[in-house]
Amino acid sequence: MRDHWYTASAPGKFVILGEHSVVYGRPAIVLAADLRMTVAVRRSRWNTMNGERLDFRRQPHLRYLTRDLRHAVDVETHSDIPVGSGMGSSAALSAAMAMALAAMDGRHLTEEEVMLEAYGAEFYAQGNGSPMDASACVHGGGITVNMPEPRGRHLWDVSRGERHWSFSDLEVPEMTFVIGNTGIRAPTGPLVDRVHRYMERSRFACEVIDDIAELTVQGGRALMRGDKEELGRLMTRDHKLLSILGVSCDELNRLVNASLPYSYGAKLTGSGGGGCMVALTDRPEKVCQAIASRGGTPYVVRTGGAGARMELRPPTTAELRR
Ligand code: PMV
Repeated sequence: MRDHWYTASAPGKFVILGEHSVVYGRPAIVLAADLRMTVAVRRSRWNTMNGERLDFRRQPHLRYLTRDLRHAVDVETHSDIPVGSGMGSSAALSAAMAMALAAMDGRHLTEEEVMLEAYGAEFYAQGNGSPMDASACVHGGGITVNMPEPRGRHLWDVSRGERHWSFSDLEVPEMTFVIGNTGIRAPTGPLVDRVHRYMERSRFACEVIDDIAELTVQGGRALMRGDKEELGRLMTRDHKLLSILGVSCDELNRLVNASLPYSYGAKLTGSGGGGCMVALTDRPEKVCQAIASRGGTPYVVRTGGAGARMELRPPTTAELRR
């Protein structure tokens, strides 16, 4: 019954501008990071994950992705992407797993088909988010969402009810970003719901979403011009607006404030409530020191990580369990 391994990997991502407002079809700018999730699958007699029995209640993404399988699977994962941290670990898992499962069945999926599988898994597992994470983790490099004047190649459109998202490829700029992880895990679904409830009862919250959308468009132009001063200023303003929406926290604010003296700008990235912040800087060592001195874990990210792809050989057990 057991088969050989089929292995795929996908990058994590970080949002430069536009998280939360993108859920309502507003613009966003996202870059893939050079941190990857690797997933290996093989046919098996029982469903297992990393050597333990696979509990689908704790892994709803995997329940969705394996919904049409007629046999059980062994799944092995290895990830450099911190979990529940706003860096797209669940979308990267879904993208790599969708690709590996298709290969196991002898099917080749287009990039758009992998994205739709990954978004379906995200939607099934955590509700009403956008296809932004899935798109970034599948395509890699950089992408823009719903930009009025995208410069890159059009990738795909996704609609859900009244909401529409149009994705384009973004030529990744030469810029240095430092990520700071608070170490606090915060699942995306409840934070998206919190913003939604706030918007339902407050016109003010809807205006904040409009403001984020507007500064994201300005940020897209600054990025194209390579204007780091302006982009950084907009990132810091975005952090303030996200704080007003109630998705920042003391730990994130501490890391953002510690980074600002050495950065063009800094903000939380992803859904917030913990997880990570990102700073745009020419002084990455200083920012890393500042983040570490406030109890965060810094990473200097190289932008433009490759998108989801099959790996030629299965990872060794040592690599998977590293
Ligand atoms: O925290 P993450 O990596 O799942 O990022 C979520 C980004 C949101 O805009 C908050 C939600 C979404 O689905 O777009």
